[in-house]
Formats: sequence, structure tokens, C-alpha cells
Amino acid sequence: MRRAVCPGSFDPVTNGHLDVIERMSRVFDEVVVAVLINKSKQGLFTTEERIDLLRQSVAEWPNVTVDSFHGLLVDFCKARGIQVIVKGLRAVSDFDYELQMGQMNHSLAQVETLFMPTNPLYSFLSSSLVKEVATYGGDVSRLVPPPVLAALKAKLSG
Ligand code: PNS
Repeated sequence: MRRAVCPGSFDPVTNGHLDVIERMSRVFDEVVVAVLINKSKQGLFTTEERIDLLRQSVAEWPNVTVDSFHGLLVDFCKARGIQVIVKGLRAVSDFDYELQMGQMNHSLAQVETLFMPTNPLYSFLSSSLVKEVATYGGDVSRLVPPPVLAALKAKLSG
């Protein structure tokens, strides 16, 4: 069984993430989307909300599950029998840090990292920009899945 993890903050999940997750689900037997629990960094959505939005957004892909983790990603991989970390690369600017993390994760636990080029349609997309645009009333309906759009409206209207 070839298992991959797609780790991230997912605050919130965007169509760019979902494009990578869907393509991964056709390459691997099982894909685990793992939400980082980061107590020192408060986001717009709680970990539970992020997981819930992810679960709604990946529901149509039967081999994709959603979980959360804290501590080292490689420890989560070891505990779950995951051999591969997959990261989406939007642009060369993503590469430096991702390369460093991939090399560190390999040196820590021999877990492999594979990079997937994102769909150019979404190369400008990030969760931070989506939140900023939505905060000031911009239209993000083409950038996030419907459950996230509704959650952003609910969160930012108060
Ligand atoms: O969506 P993000 O915030 O870019 O995701 C970053 C993430 C969660 C993939 C990265 O911060 C991570 O793996 N954190 C877990 C802690 C860890 O393993 N650190 C060592 C990385 S070499």
C-alpha cells in the first residue's frame, strides 16, 4: 500500500490545495491530509474547523482522509506507515524552503518528499491572500471550495 501525506496549515484549504490532493489521490493508494496543530500561532479557523472544511471538500475522493498532527511530521509518518510527503510547488520561490525541509525530513527519518507542480491556474493562490481578500470584501468564490466560501462569509461577517 503506497501512502502519502499532504501536510499543511490549511487555514483554510483552497482550490490550489485541492488540485494537488486530487492529483495525488490518483497516484497513491491512500492520501492523508494532515493539518498541523500549532498552538503558538492562532489562525482564522480553529484546527477542528479546518479539519471539518477539509473533510467536506475531499468527500468525493474515497482514498483521501483527513487528520491532524503536532510535533514532527516524520513522527506522524512513522506512526501511520506513510512513506512519502508530497508538497505542491507554486513557483521557484517555494523551492528553497521546501528543499530544505525535504532534506531535513529525509535525514531525520528517511521519509521521502516528492514535489508536485501546482496547476498554473492557482500559482498565485495562498490561504493568507484568500483571507486578506475576503476580509476586505473581495470575491474569492473561484479560489476556494463552497464550504470554505460559506465559512469565510460567516466568520468575517461578525
Ligand atoms: O501550510 P504550511 O504552513 O506551509 O505547512 C508547513 C508544514 C506543516 C508542512 C511544516 O511546518 C511542518 O511539517 N511542520 C511540522 C513540524 C516539523 O516536522 N518540522 C520540521 C520540518 S523539516
